[in-house]
Amino acid sequence: MVEIEGRIDSKWIHSADPPQLIKERQIDGKSFARVAGWGMYVPSRVVSNDQLVQLGVDTSDEWIRERTGIKQRHLVSQGEATSDLAVKAGQRALDVANVRSRDIDLIIVATCTPDHLLPSTASIVQDRLGAVHAGALDVNAACSGFVYSIALATGQIESGRASNVLVIGADVLSAYIDWPERSTSVLFGDGAGALLLQSSDEPGVLSATLGSDGSGAGLLIIPGGGTRLPPNGHTLGNGDHHLKMNGRQIFRGATQMMERAAGAALRSSGLKPEDIELLIPHQANQRIIEAVGRKLDLNPEQVFMNVDKYGNTVAASIPIALCEAIEQGRVKPEDHIMLVSFGAGLSWAATVIRWGTPLPVHRPFYVRFKQRLGRRFSAIRSIWRRWRRRLRGIVERFSSNGSAL
Ligand SMILES: CC(C)(COP(=O)(O)OP(=O)(O)OC[C@H]1O[C@@H](n2cnc3c(N)ncnc32)[C@H](O)[C@@H]1OP(=O)(O)O)[C@@H](O)C(=O)NCCC(=O)NCCS
Repeated sequence: MVEIEGRIDSKWIHSADPPQLIKERQIDGKSFARVAGWGMYVPSRVVSNDQLVQLGVDTSDEWIRERTGIKQRHLVSQGEATSDLAVKAGQRALDVANVRSRDIDLIIVATCTPDHLLPSTASIVQDRLGAVHAGALDVNAACSGFVYSIALATGQIESGRASNVLVIGADVLSAYIDWPERSTSVLFGDGAGALLLQSSDEPGVLSATLGSDGSGAGLLIIPGGGTRLPPNGHTLGNGDHHLKMNGRQIFRGATQMMERAAGAALRSSGLKPEDIELLIPHQANQRIIEAVGRKLDLNPEQVFMNVDKYGNTVAASIPIALCEAIEQGRVKPEDHIMLVSFGAGLSWAATVIRWGTPLPVHRPFYVRFKQRLGRRFSAIRSIWRRWRRRLRGIVERFSSNGSAL
């Protein structure tokens, strides 16, 4: 049994004012963070449960469906990396918001499977989106990373340091799966989802709560590849770069963590469970999602689930679920949406968002054309910058050789 230490209530990193104080804040001239755009991308390769069996995993479609609710997952093809998925999801969010890349102030990529240990995946995404005025950083809070990033982005916007923050959750955990290990290999999929948060006079993100209990670090871990076990022949031979998980303990802790985090975020927003039109929980396991819904006294229609199609896509799971909920017409203007997650760390997080964006969004063709053109231009500019750096290097080498002679 995982014991969750500490009180979540003491861990508010941001708690928006209760509704009656909202007016006062506007008079103060402070701005809120609202969702202005959204987008998702999953790789085209779909692998069903039966295909996993055909690939040699000792499992069955029946077991996976019954114990997890998962029917299939999307997996990257060779050469496809986290930033490739993140860029596509990010572009779609910008398109919906009708915001130019050059107007983004900050890009946060929530991921625990970056393209490289350094630089950050966010920097690669920033370059590929042509977000020339944006800062960029990665956030690693595993499956809770996206909700953590929403909280950080909201803080930047509310403090007036940013107007447009692109928050992307993207993970390719399949790169770290030990495929014959059936207790983990059937659970995960790859994908990316993004939200564009924008400063607004209308309240959007109402509250957020974050939590962590590092005493459970070993329950869900990729032990090798970091400074504790630097990569070498021994760690590779040992399989230390593969994901290890204590499924039962994570399962028990997950419901507990999500219930507490959701309750805390709800109290902070000044709302009651019946005010929440839709709960979007981290998509790890159907049984966990149903248990959380029951504990929060929500009826099944209030709880969104798409774990059957994608498996657990780690930091991407919540934004992907949110995008699908929007597409299915389950999010309406003025709705209150709650996002709640848990994951390795152990970590958990929840946020309540008031949905203000009018739906559906219509973008005239010339806007889409301009946006596409802008992207082509930023790709060319990036190539030009690389070449200019290379040429400078060559010139400097020649000139220093000359001075040495
Ligand atoms: C992984 C998980 C689905 C396993 O379900 P479970 O009901 O707890 O299953 P158990 O681990 O108790 O294993 C029961 C049996 O099924 C077997 N089993 C495990 N995985 C299997 C698979 N994919 N196919 C068939 N059998 C499997 C076990 O070997 C065990 O067999 P045994 O009784 O002969 O030893 C479940 O623990 C879980 O979802 N945990 C949370 C994981 C998670 O969400 N991680 C991500 C966090 S962000």
